[in-house]
Amino acid sequence: MVDALHPPAPLPTKRSCPFDPPDGYTPLREQERISRMSYPDGTPGWLITRYAEAKELFTHKSFSARQEGIISPVPTELAYEGPADPGAFAKTDDPVHSKYRKLVTGFFTVRRTRQLTPMIERIVHEQLDDLEEAGPGADLVEVFTESVPSRVMCEMIGVPESERKSLQRHVETLGRLSSTVPEALAAVSGMSGFLARFVPSRISDPRDDILGDLIRGGQLTEQELMGMTATLITGALDTTGNMLAMGVYTLLEHPDQLAKLQEDPELMGAAVEELLRFLTISHLGASRWALEDVEFAGQTIKKGEVVTVALPAVNRDPERYENPDQLDIGRTDHGHLGLGHGVHQCLGQHLARAILRVGYEALFDRFPTLRLAVAADEVPMRDDCVHYGPRSLHVTWDD
Ligand code: HEM
Repeated sequence: MVDALHPPAPLPTKRSCPFDPPDGYTPLREQERISRMSYPDGTPGWLITRYAEAKELFTHKSFSARQEGIISPVPTELAYEGPADPGAFAKTDDPVHSKYRKLVTGFFTVRRTRQLTPMIERIVHEQLDDLEEAGPGADLVEVFTESVPSRVMCEMIGVPESERKSLQRHVETLGRLSSTVPEALAAVSGMSGFLARFVPSRISDPRDDILGDLIRGGQLTEQELMGMTATLITGALDTTGNMLAMGVYTLLEHPDQLAKLQEDPELMGAAVEELLRFLTISHLGASRWALEDVEFAGQTIKKGEVVTVALPAVNRDPERYENPDQLDIGRTDHGHLGLGHGVHQCLGQHLARAILRVGYEALFDRFPTLRLAVAADEVPMRDDCVHYGPRSLHVTWDD
């Protein structure tokens, strides 16, 4: 039953500033612990804009992340129906989820990420060589921010360099909600074609990388190995590239914060955390659905109803953060939900932080006079994608 006084509204998506969440969230957060929301097909559901309620939802046993019950909060032709593919653990619940996740957590610990730092530094510097060669006016997204995370992840899994660019395009198409059905089908078929070539070839010749380790473990079928590989590739590429680009755009437009960082490089860890909070590039949030009728945040959520957490809004909750709308790279009170929370909290979070730290540090070190080559309000944004960030970012510097 929909409350007649509060008819469900669609997810707010209109932004008046590229660095801030859509305008419609603040009044909802001020008024309600949980709000009614209407999914694009008219199905009523729920929206969370407060931090405390979001954290509670992510650890609540009555809510599921299984793909079959999730509805996209914004219109798209790219609907995924039925359960997730075997091995694609992000859209499953325990015990299936933990069965797969625990096989790869060892590759994404703080310690393992530290060991990967020299590889990340090498890739970052090689891409910065390309930027220097491209010269002032180059598109940072094309030359630097997209390439770095995809090269890192491909090296970790053992994906040949020749496959990297097309994989990048497939992931981008599947993360773009405005992709047409033929475009999406072509991307799905490109991705499946890659997996069907790559995984069997490594089963007969396992290497010293994540996939080789999973193969030698002997616990997964070929289909599961494909699902795990696809999950790691899609998890890493679109997210980290957009965050890297968005962070650069934001720092260039907040010169006081950039100057503070350049004066005190020790602030880099805190700056990355603050950028993850302030920007929250998973701008369509994270959704769960009720496994049973459940009392939550003062409401009855009916079995099957979907709840979407507006991650950008919860990370700006004034109940949780002082001056939440201010970018403050010296902020020490983190604990943001930009990388999720609970059992599904981002598997690659330490890797993402390392790529961002190394990436920002090396970029501003080598190009201290870096600035936008276009007007700040002319930067085209990926607001039609699952992950938000600049579509291109043309930059210049003093040679
Ligand atoms: C700045 C970059 C990144 C952001 C903002 C980000 C964001 C997120 C968020 C919000 C979730 C939770 C989704 C939910 O609860 O429904 C998540 C999960 C996940 N992320 Fe990331 N991510 C980033 C980088 C990465 C990287 C580098 C990897 C590489 C492996 C990765 C792999 C995953 C996977 C596999 C999951 C699903 C985890 C699970 O269900 O157990 N992510 N990410």
